[in-house]
Amino acid sequence: MADRKILLLGSGYVAGPCVEYLSRRPENKITIGCRRIENAKALAAQFPGASAISVDVNNEQSIDEAVSQHDLVISLIPYIHHATVIKSAVKFKKNVVTTSYVSPAMLAYDEQAKSAGITVMNEIGLDPGIDHLYAVKTIDEVHKEGGKILSFLSFCGGLPAPEASNNPLGYKFSWSSRGVLLALRNNAKFYENGQVVDIPGPELMDSAKPLYIYPAFAFEGYANRDSTPYKERYNIPEAQTIIRGTLRYQGFPKFVKALVDIGFLDDSEQDYLKPEAQDVTWRSVLAKLIGVTDASADLEAAIKAKISEKDETEIQRILNGMKWLDLFSNKNVTKRGTYLDTLCATLEEKMAYEEGERDMIMLQHKFEVELADGTRQTRTSTLLEYGEPNGPSAMAKTVGIPCAIAVDLILDGVLKEKGVIAPMTPEINNPIMEALEKEGIQVIEAIL
Ligand SMILES: *[C@@H]1O[C@H](CO)[C@@H](O)[C@H](O)[C@H]1NC(C)=O
Repeated sequence: MADRKILLLGSGYVAGPCVEYLSRRPENKITIGCRRIENAKALAAQFPGASAISVDVNNEQSIDEAVSQHDLVISLIPYIHHATVIKSAVKFKKNVVTTSYVSPAMLAYDEQAKSAGITVMNEIGLDPGIDHLYAVKTIDEVHKEGGKILSFLSFCGGLPAPEASNNPLGYKFSWSSRGVLLALRNNAKFYENGQVVDIPGPELMDSAKPLYIYPAFAFEGYANRDSTPYKERYNIPEAQTIIRGTLRYQGFPKFVKALVDIGFLDDSEQDYLKPEAQDVTWRSVLAKLIGVTDASADLEAAIKAKISEKDETEIQRILNGMKWLDLFSNKNVTKRGTYLDTLCATLEEKMAYEEGERDMIMLQHKFEVELADGTRQTRTSTLLEYGEPNGPSAMAKTVGIPCAIAVDLILDGVLKEKGVIAPMTPEINNPIMEALEKEGIQVIEAIL
């Protein structure tokens, strides 16, 4: 078979499983492009035949030069750069694959991509990605049977495996914690019983509810950004409830809510937290945040007064969690300019994955269905994946492998649709699901 030249931009944790999958076919010639060539070389060294180049994504000329020499570009760099990559791909008539949501800046290239005859496939990781595949599958099956989707609930979480959930958040950070924390104050919007429900960011954690998937897991879920476009995207105008959300272990939302109440998600610059400022202890930072001038005062009482949680058992759990993080201690903080970033430094230090610890992915769709004859049923689609100790994480595999599968299918001419697209039709999705199942990534479907 003729060589297929694939450019992969980025060398993050998802890149490994993606390159591993693609490098199984000798005709796939993979170039890894990073701003710092050492990063690209480190990844390329793990796969025979892969090579490394330096690409500066802030420089159009650098992108053009790299894109023009390949048949397809995988963009695993931060989403703000995708539109620049697509612009270059349109110019040189090359295909693109990303795992990110289609942004307006990316969609703006739809017509040009169609005229250039290229495929720009997006949203093909886990969430978005595998979630779309199995949502569209069931919705299509129900519609073909003449049925209706009354309600669609979908929750997904990337978590530590149960045995690694050993900290007050039941959560671990495998990369920057900043994005994770900022997402906790996003506004959310969804349909519930025919009404549009808006949750303002500061109330998002209060909106979390217990979620029962398997009895051995204590999950809570809260809505993730705007679910309302899925009425149209998934073609379910009949649905009265549409919620896409995030899963966390029990206790996470209330602990985070307390941190929010105290002011830890404040990202405004504080002179005294600048890296070059004088050393300062966690205890005095905490005192300042809650407005207590004397750091030797009873900070616990002041925190109780400040947080919205009123249940005494919960308050004790939260205070113990804060102690676990050393927030009452005389240890010096790692100053990063803002309260948010200074907290992040501590979270990343204390809540990182240890050697040999596994992560876990849980995804479940729950459909309330009414069949043509009026019968009601509940259908579920469930994915539970564990990472490999000292190997690829479940998150890296479930994002990187669907992405790699889409790349192969485009280059094989199986995925033919042109323009800026996402996995929203059975024609696009069926071959991807078939390949995923061969990889052992199996979504279990049930009718109750
Ligand atoms: C904290 O910083 C102060 C002032 O620089 C220093 O004297 C003290 O030893 C530091 N404490 C720790 C535990 O490192």
